[in-house]
Amino acid sequence: MKTNQSLLEERNKHIPQGPFNVHPIFAGKAVGAIITDVEGKEYIDFAGGIGTVNVGHGNEEVLHAIRDQIEKYVHMCFHVVMYEPYVELAKRLNALTPGTFPKKTMFANSGAEAVENAIKIARHATGRPATIAFEDAFHGRTLLALSLTSKMKPYKFGFSPYAPEVYRVPYAYCYRCAFGLEYPSCKIHCANFLSEFFHTHIAAEQVAALIVEPVLGEGGFVVPPREYFKVLQKICKNNGIVFIADEVQTGFGRTARMFAMEHYEVEPDITIMAKSLAGGLPLSAITGRTELMDHPQVGGLGGTFSGNPVACRAAIAVLDLFKKRDILTKAKRIGERVLEKFKKFYDQYSIIGDVRGLGAMVGMELVVDRRTKEPATAFTKRLVDSCREKGLLMISAGTHSNISRPLMPLIITNGQLEKGLSIIEEALSELAPG
Ligand SMILES: Cc1ncc(COP(=O)(O)O)c(C=O)c1O
Repeated sequence: MKTNQSLLEERNKHIPQGPFNVHPIFAGKAVGAIITDVEGKEYIDFAGGIGTVNVGHGNEEVLHAIRDQIEKYVHMCFHVVMYEPYVELAKRLNALTPGTFPKKTMFANSGAEAVENAIKIARHATGRPATIAFEDAFHGRTLLALSLTSKMKPYKFGFSPYAPEVYRVPYAYCYRCAFGLEYPSCKIHCANFLSEFFHTHIAAEQVAALIVEPVLGEGGFVVPPREYFKVLQKICKNNGIVFIADEVQTGFGRTARMFAMEHYEVEPDITIMAKSLAGGLPLSAITGRTELMDHPQVGGLGGTFSGNPVACRAAIAVLDLFKKRDILTKAKRIGERVLEKFKKFYDQYSIIGDVRGLGAMVGMELVVDRRTKEPATAFTKRLVDSCREKGLLMISAGTHSNISRPLMPLIITNGQLEKGLSIIEEALSELAPG
């Protein structure tokens, strides 16, 4: 039998170091919220393949849809011979995504590809070159998506030149306000500031799109104030700029609504999805106003594997599951419990500088000193390692990798959730200064 160690040696021999690994273990099997490694050790999964298995590992309904589709055909290429699952899923997403206006949907394979396509569509429709993105944003690793991504090391370092015409503004990161202000007396200056930005950095009439995550994912589970997106959207609308919501990480129930923008009562011109959309199969979607989506010429959009039929069937099964199992209510309960626990940790341990969340997207920001807010990067890694040794898989986030961000499957049982939280508690009690 191959061990984690022997596989790691083979991995290091045959695979470059660039594709990173958080945990030095190899999967044997995975069911629900439990991953068993090749040596038979079980772990509670608080990472969910970075938020990709909201409906759990090996979900029977999803597997059934996959098996059924595989028996019929695995691949067609939608541009050669069309197939119903593509059309059916597009129809469902058009109805499901925020926005009462007429919509159309196209598919791609990854979050980054969805980002690229959304910007292509916005540029084509507006005839403008520029995009506004945010500090601490993560939009993927292909050239344009990487250019929109904020974090320098390790994502961008050494990969320049980046795509041109990307302009960056601060996000509503209240714990570390770029303007040194406090909510609510700030009157959402970070959003209103955009109007001023058009005078100092890029003229509004040259901006095709503004792309924003409703809650920062990789950037550290940062939740903006209620009015933030309404202000941003109004500025976009007044200036003919396409408002793109990147719901790749926040989508599919993570925030206890199907899409996080629903909390903010904002209807984006384009919503992009990936991760949990197809229950673990690679699939992304771009859904937007019909007049925008129909703007690029025939053949201007697409891809060989885009909207693979097996992935589309899996996604349809995921959507059915959300209804059948009331996963949004489960997400709400998970979020409430995690928030309660994390707040308790905050009261106990000064290493925790901030606790924040929306639905089941709850994070703890770890700092060396609450006053200076110096990021506790090394401690966060020790916490992740210690949790793994105790049987819990976690991942971190943030520009300084100092935010603990659980992305457990939303079908996790109460027992597994409690066990996972008690492992974090135990690890904190051993490692934290108090
Ligand atoms: C908000 C957001 N956008 C885009 C992406 C890129 O997705 P992918 O890794 O599938 O290309 C990610 C991935 O973490 C993400 O969190």
